[in-house]
Amino acid sequence: MPQIDPHSTSNVVIDLGERSYAIAIGTGLIGQPATYADLPRASQALIVSNTAVAPLYAEQARAALSAHYPQVHMLALPDGEAYKTWETLQRIFDALLTHGCDRKTVLFALGGGVVGDMTGFAAASFMRGVPFVQIPTTLLAQVDSSVGGKTGINHPLGKNMVGAFYQPHRVVCDLDTLQTLPPRELSAGLAEIIKYGPIADTAFLDWIEANLPDLLARAPQALAHAVRRSCEIKAWVVAQDEREAGLRAILNFGHTFGHAIEAGMGYGAWLHGEAVGCGMVMAARLSAALGMVDAAFAERLVMLVAAAGLPVKGPVLDPGDNAGRYLALMRLDKKAQAGAITFVLIDGPGRAVMREAPEALVRSVIDSCCAG
Ligand code: NAD
Ligand code: GLY
Repeated sequence: MPQIDPHSTSNVVIDLGERSYAIAIGTGLIGQPATYADLPRASQALIVSNTAVAPLYAEQARAALSAHYPQVHMLALPDGEAYKTWETLQRIFDALLTHGCDRKTVLFALGGGVVGDMTGFAAASFMRGVPFVQIPTTLLAQVDSSVGGKTGINHPLGKNMVGAFYQPHRVVCDLDTLQTLPPRELSAGLAEIIKYGPIADTAFLDWIEANLPDLLARAPQALAHAVRRSCEIKAWVVAQDEREAGLRAILNFGHTFGHAIEAGMGYGAWLHGEAVGCGMVMAARLSAALGMVDAAFAERLVMLVAAAGLPVKGPVLDPGDNAGRYLALMRLDKKAQAGAITFVLIDGPGRAVMREAPEALVRSVIDSCCAG
């Protein structure tokens, strides 16, 4: 696979007919007025960020956007998954209405997946829909959450349970932002990058294994390639199945177990990417237990997840009946139907399918994968 030039200005395109949009990947993008030159025009723009990211990048975004929008407002939300709630969403509507924003106002989500998901949901519903742009600043958001139009908030009973499909007008992946990311967040992003290998592209899996040291060292060339290839795979999937009637569900590999870990531990205790990494371990071992893939392939994935700095042992959510607690939480997963849990499983390297699994087998995989 060819190396990607981090200074390249060529875009990945999400092909969705009249709602198609480009993902710009490169360096120095946030502070350049040209980045935003052909977006919808309006008298006002609102940058939604959080208290950790705004001090780092909001001023350069505001200065560049001021070349195109007469008024650029700024809102810094509290930081963290625990704030992906109705109450925080309300603060975005409060800001929009307090500033007298209208239905042409453009929202800019500057931050990780939490800011992106909430800002997208606000854009989907404010005045029944206003344009928005994703400026993802975490690795996880650049390779996954900013792309594809899933927006929403958490409910105490389930992750991402309230939301909308609503596509952005543009995604701006400025690789420079990844240099300030805490190491734990970098690893969390690597989980969603690794995900694309077993479900769609074993050559990419080989590349990740070979280039993991460069990715962990944040080498721009390696990051550029990983972000671009991840976005290309996600674009390919989303273009075929925008609303997850079928194929798109493969992007949730590791998420059924992962969402149970997040909800069971309390949102924010484990990072989303950490829960997905550990969830991939469980899903890969369940695939092997069902005879769908070699145990050697599952263990290769486990080693890569561990080498990326991610947990491979699941937490004990209930010392009395740990597997039972996982199962109860997984029955709340959006893919579950009439209480039956559907897993994304590996059906041979590079191919994922949706399948139910016998409860006794799921229990034994959970028991063998959890610490304690
Ligand atoms: P996050 O948004 O909480 O960001 C992680 C942390 O890094 C935060 O503390 C944030 O303030 C900080 N941060 C962000 N950018 C930074 C930077 N450049 N430098 C320093 N610190 C920075 O978490 P995340 O991992 O980006 O996203 C997780 C969320 O994304 C979850 O809510 C998950 O459900 C969602 N998600 C959505 C989709 C989707 O398709 N919509 C896909 C995957 C995940
Ligand atoms: N992150 C899964 C999806 O976008 O469908």
